[in-house]
Amino acid sequence: MNPRLKLATALAALLGVAAPAGNAFAHGDVAPQPVDISGLPPLGDELRSENPYRNTSAYERAKEIGAKAFNQNCARCHGLGAVSGGIAPDLRYLVPGDDDEYFLGRVMSGSVRNGVTYMPPFGEIFSQEAIWAIRSWLDSVHVE
Ligand code: HEC
Repeated sequence: MNPRLKLATALAALLGVAAPAGNAFAHGDVAPQPVDISGLPPLGDELRSENPYRNTSAYERAKEIGAKAFNQNCARCHGLGAVSGGIAPDLRYLVPGDDDEYFLGRVMSGSVRNGVTYMPPFGEIFSQEAIWAIRSWLDSVHVE
């Protein structure tokens, strides 16, 4: 490690703050965990623009699946209970309904800029059902 970076890291540790890019990067290569979507109505290939489980009889099951999937795949960056520690956006503020399509797109494509992976893409790994399950759970922790 170059000495300046080492100093910055030591300083960050001392101040109790995380070096943002460093953290996102270090967490970037943890293998995504598959999501068991049994019990959820299948959605087919066509992407929905709104959470199809919200306010249906599958909503509770979707939240249950989403909570687990979030803990295993998203919490290390976006925080336990989706309360962000600052290295990634706080997903509790995404508005149920209005931000649904945006949510689906972001989760599928992740965030890669200038060759740096800030967030890995989940589109190849997660089914649409799994992503809407996570969205369903996020509904339950939404804050204005
Ligand atoms: C390696 C860390 C990391 C992981 C894992 C991760 N994210 Fe992210 N996510 C980020 C970062 C960093 C950003 C901001 C990216 C940017 O600035 O381009 C982000 C952005 C987002 C956004 C856009 C938020 C906004 O307010 O614009 C959504 C939605 C999102 N992530 C959902 C998820 C979900 C759901 C998961 C789990 C399936 C997940 N992320 C896993 C780091 C991560």
